[in-house]
Amino acid sequence: MMEARVYINGIITEGDQAVVSVFDHGFLYGDGVYETVRTYNRQPFLLDRHLTRLRASADRLALDISTSDEDLKASIEETMDGVNTSGEVSLRVLVTRGIGKLSYDPAACPIPTIVIIAHPHFDTPSAVQRDGINVIVASVLRNHPRSVDPGIKSNNLLNNVLAMQEAIRQGAHEAILLNHRGELTECAQSNLFAVLNGDVLTPPLNAGLLEGVTRNFLFEVGADIGIPVCEAVLHEVDFEKLDELFITSTTREVIPVVRVGEQSIGSGRPGPIASRLLVRFRDLADALTRTKGTD
Ligand code: PDD
Repeated sequence: MMEARVYINGIITEGDQAVVSVFDHGFLYGDGVYETVRTYNRQPFLLDRHLTRLRASADRLALDISTSDEDLKASIEETMDGVNTSGEVSLRVLVTRGIGKLSYDPAACPIPTIVIIAHPHFDTPSAVQRDGINVIVASVLRNHPRSVDPGIKSNNLLNNVLAMQEAIRQGAHEAILLNHRGELTECAQSNLFAVLNGDVLTPPLNAGLLEGVTRNFLFEVGADIGIPVCEAVLHEVDFEKLDELFITSTTREVIPVVRVGEQSIGSGRPGPIASRLLVRFRDLADALTRTKGTD
């Protein structure tokens, strides 16, 4: 927290000075949306895609982000520049309904609150990449799309919090969530990919999941190195047949999963496909951030 620089509606302060009102509906109701972005070569990676998703999430809540992308980008740059690190930066961009009386009426909050938190980024330890992680299947289900749609990247994260609590209690790094039909969807903080008979598969959007920026980018990474990545419905019974399993997210890139609960995946060691995708992913991220513009 101390190392963070924070922007709140035009004012940038140190992390420990950054304060939002208790009457902010983001605090009262989780009424807001967010994005997590990271830099490569100190350039926010795939920022246009993140801002497009931020606006799509906000639209689903009828939350009006009046600030232009150009202004948001300038504020992100300015906030980032103050972070005291020679390494990469992680960013959390939040937009909440704003401050208003205790009411669900959006008219109670005329001005949204825009927050940008910038802090040093820490890469996944190389031992985790080398050895892979254990995950569990959570007992809590992913939200039904007609509840709080998982496709909205909202600040309303209790579903994810409960799933991660289960994982932490069981010494696991992530929690896979099933949907109401018993299909695999995604994890509490990342998307999920499986390698089955040599095919790389990831649950389809209509399973009810977040359309990850990294997930989408991985389709392009795979196509680039002749490893097609496709959508397919997956179930728990598939775990015993898998060659590999891995997760993706902005902050964690590609991480191999070697065990789900008591079930070992494939050889029980990280597999070659996740590793090839990660290497190419990093090469492309580097190349795209050396030139101007990252999309
Ligand atoms: N989490 N699914 C969920 C539920 C997530 O929270 C995330 C990202 C992802 C991966 O999305 P992306 O590739 O766009 O990062 C999938 C971020 C990192 C977070 O909550 O901070």
